[in-house]
Amino acid sequence: MSRKFQAETHTFGAGEDNRLVSPAAERNISRLFEALSPILPKTGKVLELASGTGQHAVAFAKAFPNLVWQPSENDPGKLPSIAAWRDNAGLLNIRDPIRLNACRPGWAHRYGPVDFLYLVNLTHLISDAELAVLLDEAVQALRPNGLFALYGPFLRNGRTTSAGDAAFHASLRSQDPSIGYKDVEVISDTMQALGCDVTWREMPANNLLALLLKRM
Ligand SMILES: C[S@@+](CC[C@H](N)C(=O)[O-])C[C@H]1O[C@@H](n2cnc3c(N)ncnc32)[C@H](O)[C@@H]1O
Repeated sequence: MSRKFQAETHTFGAGEDNRLVSPAAERNISRLFEALSPILPKTGKVLELASGTGQHAVAFAKAFPNLVWQPSENDPGKLPSIAAWRDNAGLLNIRDPIRLNACRPGWAHRYGPVDFLYLVNLTHLISDAELAVLLDEAVQALRPNGLFALYGPFLRNGRTTSAGDAAFHASLRSQDPSIGYKDVEVISDTMQALGCDVTWREMPANNLLALLLKRM
């Protein structure tokens, strides 16, 4: 994937503090927290894909101390930020962040099985072929009855749902025709075929949260 599409981040403080701050992450955390808190397993292993700055990991791991949260990132430059957020919060239930390309086959076998998979705002930045690998690996990585929470902007019946989304989708496509928003129906069909029950939840700012439950 081209690295032109990173979310806006800024550094937390001067000097030794490696924490990066993403305002988008900050906005999404509270929305996701509200939606997911009632259904998250209280114990078990979580794998977060494309963790970004590490803000999501800290927010959830702090509130769910009996979950073991494994953050991961394809960009090695983000790993120090994730570790710094973890260390600053003093959380023992966040593992050292790992380098993981979610679109390359093999990670499910290496890092699964997990009880919960968490992925925010990646699918519009990858190609259809990369998405197919990611979804296939995700199902392989989940334990039976495990849950995959997938959040982001999506197409519905092949269409964007606001002028802002149309502009963002078009700008992604103009920079790389292989990427852009993915269709809800494609993800639903793929995940059902792979053995998951699929539920979509409307979220603020036209985003959607897919809850993908691996059948027993
Ligand atoms: C829009 S940011 C979202 C970050 C974080 N999930 C959040 O919501 O704050 C997309 C992230 O995906 C990461 N990324 C891009 N391609 C990836 C891949 N193939 N596998 C894993 N992470 C990837 C980028 O490095 C970046 O941190």
